[in-house]
Amino acid sequence: MSSPQGQGQAGAGRLPRQSYNITFLPAKVTVEVDPGRLPYGSHGRPGSVLDVALAAGVSIEHACGGFSACATCHVIVREGTDSCGQPDEQELDRLDEAYGATPQSRLGCQCVPDGSCDVVIEIPRWGRNVGGDLK
Ligand code: FES
Repeated sequence: MSSPQGQGQAGAGRLPRQSYNITFLPAKVTVEVDPGRLPYGSHGRPGSVLDVALAAGVSIEHACGGFSACATCHVIVREGTDSCGQPDEQELDRLDEAYGATPQSRLGCQCVPDGSCDVVIEIPRWGRNVGGDLK
């Protein structure tokens, strides 16, 4: 269904149009995202929450490497949901498998905020790269 790095229809190719901040909880690390420097790496969609986090040294599990195939990068968008677009069908399927998923849950590798507002992302305890504590 999706091409490499999970670039499905919903949100594919979408990048922020202006600088914005992502705050990662619970560490309370705030990162300014500069659209002119994206992508920072090759983890998930360009400009994804996962890509931004890893570039800033914020650890999020990403077992499949950002291909929308594992759900270990599950995050919860606590603020700025409207700027994150809608998940595509493949992301929704993965989120169905994610432990502790909520209506605000997204895959960090697929969620690309558009920069229209700041975003607050909670990294669930089981996704903080703590050695596979996924149960
Ligand atoms: Fe596997 Fe995001 S890293 S679904």
